[in-house]
Amino acid sequence: MSKILLTGGAGYIGSHTAIEMLNAGYEIIVADNFSNSSKESLRRVEKITGKTIPFYQADITDKEQTEKIFEENDIAAVIHFAGLKSVGESVSCPVRYYKNNLLSSLNLLEVMEKHHVKKLVFSSSATVYGNPDHVPFDETMPVGVCTNPYGWTKQMSEQIFQDACVADKDLTVILLRYFNPVGAHESGTIGEAPNGTPNNLMPYISQVAVGTLKQLSVYGSDYPTHDGTGVRDYIHVVDLAKGHLAAIRYAETHTGTEIFNLGTGCGYSVLDMVKAFEKVNGVSVPYRIADRRPGDIASAYADPAKARDILGWQAEKTLEDMCRDTWKWQRQNPNGYNA
Ligand code: NAD
Ligand code: WQD
Repeated sequence: MSKILLTGGAGYIGSHTAIEMLNAGYEIIVADNFSNSSKESLRRVEKITGKTIPFYQADITDKEQTEKIFEENDIAAVIHFAGLKSVGESVSCPVRYYKNNLLSSLNLLEVMEKHHVKKLVFSSSATVYGNPDHVPFDETMPVGVCTNPYGWTKQMSEQIFQDACVADKDLTVILLRYFNPVGAHESGTIGEAPNGTPNNLMPYISQVAVGTLKQLSVYGSDYPTHDGTGVRDYIHVVDLAKGHLAAIRYAETHTGTEIFNLGTGCGYSVLDMVKAFEKVNGVSVPYRIADRRPGDIASAYADPAKARDILGWQAEKTLEDMCRDTWKWQRQNPNGYNA
């Protein structure tokens, strides 16, 4: 039986997607260099699903290692999660980010072509929209000016994949633009395990709540939003994972490039998130108002209509689910996957 390859499948979004793919009856293989994850996440996915996951410890920027996976398996499609994702780190180490994120995309395309694999789903980001003058963001809007190298690697990869589709009429590339993934599997056994101090809001809030960090800095209270703090489209990672299942199903019967926002269409502010987290979990999240973070925009949320109409997918989980599941994972695993 042919298989779906998940590059970066041991990571936060990849591990949740692995569960949805396995539960839907797909056979999967994971390739990960574990630069930002551990084998423990795969062991836990195996426990949740009762299925064994074949995996390769492989770097997708290494052509030989990538090639080996395709030689040894009959691969029907690839979901390409592998990538470095820290915005701040990409500013201090731009070459590392361009090299890792672009070379992995280029290698994959070459190896896929050689092995006649024609279906690819790519983890892109709402960051490619830059700073448009209105919300919600829809897929027809032009991509914008990114404020950091990470964002450029996503925009450039999108361009590379689109050009490859123009040249090869049998190729299918689905570009998924994620908004702000949060939450964890309802078991609380897999979730987001950032290295060091988190940059993203939800992991930061939960580490303050658990007592690892003292207080949250709210970056800016003078944005033109309902309470002055930044507004984002937070999406439960299990909903996001199900979006990949829908994308793979769509890719099975279509060719060419298609772009989909994966978001809820709802915008919540930083203070909305703090208050919801406190209320749902009965905990306290001390915060202080700080300066704006350079590169941040006031408001970003999706128009999710295209994914609903074409993929038949929409987010179902609530803000309460996001807060509860984040907290369950955090409480059960205060040190992430390091027991
Ligand atoms: P993650 O860091 O948890 O997962 C990425 C995985 O890729 C990790 O397991 C890492 O070890 C692996 N990896 C990195 N470079 C690799 C390489 N060269 N070869 C093999 N494996 C490699 O991140 P995530 O949150 O699960 O994100 C998955 C994808 O989605 C990334 O491409 C990310 O840029 C994108 N994305 C994430 C977010 C977000 O907020 N989490 C938002 C938009 C897009
Ligand atoms: C959310 C809001 C902050 C931390 C980033 C990437 C994007 C995508 C998702 C990968 C903003 C505020 C945050 C804190 C705060 N990743 N905040 N205090 O910036 O929307 O998106 O992650 O593709 O590309 O840019 O997410 O979680 O960092 O911030 O006040 O300690 O929370 O200012 O308004 P962001 P975030």
